[in-house]
Amino acid sequence: MFHLAAALHDATAAQLTRVQLDAAMAAKLHGAEALARVTASMPLDLFVLFGSLAGVVGSAGQGNYAAANAALDAVARARRGPALLVDWGAWQGEGMARGLGGPALSPGAALAALDAALSADLTRVAISAGAAAVAPAVAGLAERLADAIGTGKRDVLAEAVDEIVGRILGLGGLVLERARPLTELGLDSLMAVELRNALGAAIGRTLPTSLVFDHPTAEALSVFLAAELGLVARTVPPPPAPPPMAVAPAASPADSHVGSTVGSPADDWDDDAALLLLERKLSHAGY
Ligand SMILES: NC(=O)c1ccc[n+]([C@@H]2O[C@H](COP(=O)([O-])OP(=O)(O)OC[C@H]3O[C@@H](n4cnc5c(N)ncnc54)[C@H](OP(=O)(O)O)[C@@H]3O)[C@@H](O)[C@H]2O)c1
Repeated sequence: MFHLAAALHDATAAQLTRVQLDAAMAAKLHGAEALARVTASMPLDLFVLFGSLAGVVGSAGQGNYAAANAALDAVARARRGPALLVDWGAWQGEGMARGLGGPALSPGAALAALDAALSADLTRVAISAGAAAVAPAVAGLAERLADAIGTGKRDVLAEAVDEIVGRILGLGGLVLERARPLTELGLDSLMAVELRNALGAAIGRTLPTSLVFDHPTAEALSVFLAAELGLVARTVPPPPAPPPMAVAPAASPADSHVGSTVGSPADDWDDDAALLLLERKLSHAGY
């Protein structure tokens, strides 16, 4: 006996309605409870509940779905006789994770893992493609760059950059605005570190810690990485202009203050600009 019914009625916690909560619970929890009840005295070979990783690690905007999946644990444990709850990660192809992007199990791999879980004497298991799975646009990047000709190399690289950026931003199937600052698309500082590491891993280089600050859009990252890989000539930025230092004209000998500055950069800088400069200096110093 397998229970697979599920219904998505996504909403943030603040906007979740009773109706949305009930709908998620009806398909998952109440359905599984009903099956458990009517089959309680049947000598079943299998009693398998399909849950989701959302019930283990949560999922933004899916509090109802996460709770309904988490509650399946009680149904599996309460059952006399063998019962297995599988907390699935995303599957490829059709189904509720269709078009989400990111790592996903092929049906073959999912069924093989399910077979293995059924052979082991488990009550609960999580099965997912895991973070190690590499998206098609990123897998074998070096070989595909080598195979591509002319400007095609930059297209291959840009596709891989978009794939990585989209995954880290959790864009799912949404189109990435390549010219828009990533911070406006939701990138925070932890994501910036993850992005720098993922891009570095994809091209096999250690990239500067200030990467995303220096190249704040997907487009700018692609251009920088293309230069880094020698696909385009590197444009050397002009040296930064020296900070404006002006000697204030002395109004009178009495109040002259030779060497004082007018319009010091510190007057105009906010915390973000100061932090950015500090990060660049540390990066150039090898930290
Ligand atoms: N696909 C994935 O990547 C993935 C990942 C993690 C977990 N899972 C779990 O795996 C299971 C199957 O997923 P799926 O992708 O095949 O889902 P799906 O394509 O959305 O199918 C869900 C099925 O549940 C039925 N259903 C919804 N509410 C119901 C209710 N109240 N009573 C009876 N049936 C109801 C739907 O019927 P109608 O079409 O008639 O509404 C539909 O046939 C689900 O339990 C899901 O949580 C899937």
